[in-house]
Amino acid sequence: MLKLDITKVAPFVSAETIKGYAPRVAEAQKSLEAGTCPGNDFLGWLHLPSSITPEFLDDIQQTADILRSECDAVVVAGIGGSYLGAKAVIEALSNSFQWLVGSNGPAVLFAGNNIGEDYLSELTAYLSDKRFGVINISKSGTTTETALAFRLLKKQCEQQRGKDVARRVIVAITDAKRGAARTCADKEGYKSYIIPDNVGGRFSVLTPVGLLPIAVAGFDIRQLVKGAQDMEANNALAGEYAATRYALYAAGKKIEILANYQPKLHFVAEWWKQLYGESEGKDQKGLFPASVDLTTDLHSMGQWIQEGERTIFETVISVENPEHKLLFPSDEENLDGLNFLAGRRVDEVNKMAELGTQLAHVDGGVPNIRIAIERLDAYHLGQLIYFFELACGLYCQLLGVNAFNQPGVEAYKKNMFALLGKPGYEKETEAIKARLG
Ligand code: PA5
Repeated sequence: MLKLDITKVAPFVSAETIKGYAPRVAEAQKSLEAGTCPGNDFLGWLHLPSSITPEFLDDIQQTADILRSECDAVVVAGIGGSYLGAKAVIEALSNSFQWLVGSNGPAVLFAGNNIGEDYLSELTAYLSDKRFGVINISKSGTTTETALAFRLLKKQCEQQRGKDVARRVIVAITDAKRGAARTCADKEGYKSYIIPDNVGGRFSVLTPVGLLPIAVAGFDIRQLVKGAQDMEANNALAGEYAATRYALYAAGKKIEILANYQPKLHFVAEWWKQLYGESEGKDQKGLFPASVDLTTDLHSMGQWIQEGERTIFETVISVENPEHKLLFPSDEENLDGLNFLAGRRVDEVNKMAELGTQLAHVDGGVPNIRIAIERLDAYHLGQLIYFFELACGLYCQLLGVNAFNQPGVEAYKKNMFALLGKPGYEKETEAIKARLG
């Protein structure tokens, strides 16, 4: 099982202080179970893993197999919670050089998570000679970034592959009844999956939102779900992490930096940042979730972490066993003086870098939490996902915010639509024009 080590928080916040939050964590857990916490319409993720049936996973796998056999590339259109979970798991499980060495299935690409004209132009140009399919993911079914990408991709897919094939290789994952994505899927007869009403975007990786793209990429969704189920059944560490974060926040820490020592975990951190940032950043409260990839960023952000403002703490995700074995080579000339490492595992060097950094950061005034997983596979990622989700739900209650809404996200949309002259936004357009002069 996943391990949590908070001993290197002790110089900053005592173990007793953290334990002192245990009754509040227990209360928070009870109110999640009883559905009495703020945002209780969105608690579908809480027992989602144990509710997933083998038949449901078979259905997802069958759809994935159709896309895998009929496509050279599958584009996942979605933003925020409608893409980050899939991206995180696929990146973590893929060969780091898959673009060069190829994968044993279609390339899984992502779009609809930005409005970059160059990005979309280059994507559509790349797809112009490919047998491609699309997974259109939007809970609301109205998100501009996703809708734009989907319009482009649907048209291109129909033109390149004909309407009949397009109907087979376009899949929609959206609300059961509402939104343009649902209307379109029903009208066109696409295979579609429902995002449950009570599961918010950033908690949806274990619904078809994450499971279908992950299965299309060729990874084991059964093991992913099994890992999450085991963590759901054995979840005490999530409460400890929540209590530790809260104790550090109460002690004046404002930024949590999620650090990894495996480049494949970069997007796990991006997923985590959304989960925590969108859930807790409310009412002028909340830790700012940041991330670094180490040791890479020790040569860029390391100075700041070591000696900058002391309002940070660090949470390290450590992978105990790499998938491959590689030894540090010996060199006759030994110009770099590194022959003392010859014959030792590269991972040993990495682990000593991790430990050395952890000790240095603690000495520099940065509390350190360590989360260790045995290996980077679907099962352990499933554990990690549920661990972070539950800890988020618990922590937000300690903080006193509704973890499951995101009212602040609307502000930019309102201004963007007013600036673009969207019908119905006339008053806002006038106000913004007057403001900009
Ligand atoms: O967590 C959330 O709810 C958001 O990040 C959404 O996932 C994101 O805004 C995309 O929304 P939708 O799936 O409705 O297009």
